[in-house]
Amino acid sequence: MVLARRAGAGEQPNQATVLRARRLAAGLPVLDLSDSNPTRHGLGTPDALAAIAQAAPRAGAYEPDPRGALVARTALAATRGGSPEDYWLAASTSELYGWLLTLLADPGDLVAVPAPGYPLVEPLARFSGVGTLTYPVHYLHPYGWSLDLARLDAVVEDPRVRVLVLVSPGNPTGAYLQPAEVAHVVDLCARTGTALVIDEVFAPYPLDGAPSSQAGTTGCLTFVLDGLSKLLCAPQLKLGWVRVSGPAAQLDEVRRGLDQVADAALSVGAPVALALPTLLDLAPQVVAATGDRLRANLAAARRVLDEPYRVRRCDGGWSLVVDVPRYVSDDELTAALLDAGLWVHPGWFYDLVSPGALVLSLLPRPSAFEDGCRRLRSAVDALA
Ligand SMILES: Cc1ncc(COP(=O)(O)O)c(C=O)c1O
Repeated sequence: MVLARRAGAGEQPNQATVLRARRLAAGLPVLDLSDSNPTRHGLGTPDALAAIAQAAPRAGAYEPDPRGALVARTALAATRGGSPEDYWLAASTSELYGWLLTLLADPGDLVAVPAPGYPLVEPLARFSGVGTLTYPVHYLHPYGWSLDLARLDAVVEDPRVRVLVLVSPGNPTGAYLQPAEVAHVVDLCARTGTALVIDEVFAPYPLDGAPSSQAGTTGCLTFVLDGLSKLLCAPQLKLGWVRVSGPAAQLDEVRRGLDQVADAALSVGAPVALALPTLLDLAPQVVAATGDRLRANLAAARRVLDEPYRVRRCDGGWSLVVDVPRYVSDDELTAALLDAGLWVHPGWFYDLVSPGALVLSLLPRPSAFEDGCRRLRSAVDALA
């Protein structure tokens, strides 16, 4: 059997992943400081499952709607603005990326993505036959991250680029879009006829920065992604949504097109969709508890790692970038940390090119996280 190139034919796992698998196969312990699966860290609420169980008896009839159950979309509009007709439900935001690329780009077209940025966007684009062009996001300590607007302009002005993806706050940068950046990007997309896709799954989790949302932007065709995977710390429930907005003259055609794409999948399970009004009511308590966890771990990272290392500004989200001294190459560093029983993502997993940058998940329980930070520091210091 011969696999398609876009399915990753011939790709090999990187050396770090191979070393980690070997250590686990040998039965040696690994403290995973990169794990951002909230269900493994005691986050989320069992009330979510109870809400779905309560909704299940109403899910006996199959009533397909390409946008998803009206009761769910009505709850989204009531809590987040817009009208129920502005929302489409899907099993996840990852699935929505695929739908939007089908809607907006033909095979051979390109999508502009941030670097460093969320690594799943490139394969999702590739699976849709679409290529990626990266635009840089720069870090200046302690000010934070900013889009390289000149390079972004050059990328988006390439006529093959049909979609601009922004992630706010970014993964792993944690940077929310700034008002001047939003104004620039909306103007750029309107001028070039580029669709704007903004992934806001981490928006409810501000840390060093002030939260913002671009949902409902009308200056250019805009798709804002969100879902229960982060809002309720429940990726296993499989419910995400996109809110569509933009110039009125374009919206009818976009709605028809997205209905067609969504109608081919109809992927949302009825119990979770019918439970969404109750699930959204649970979100504030989950967000508050998760926010406490993130703040406690960020403070611990600063206590244990800052000086002589550098904990970067983290406006929001679930991940943290830490710079450690570059005594060895990034591959050797990852291997040395594994020898110390720690799995930490090197920055290059996210196209973060500065050597010695590590990406930590802020989700682990505080005792495990702080212990991991201490062990990380000892392991790096031992390389000096
Ligand atoms: C920026 C970003 N968007 C989307 C997702 C995936 O969310 P979902 O579970 O809804 O596909 C992730 C997962 O970590 C993410 O980091």
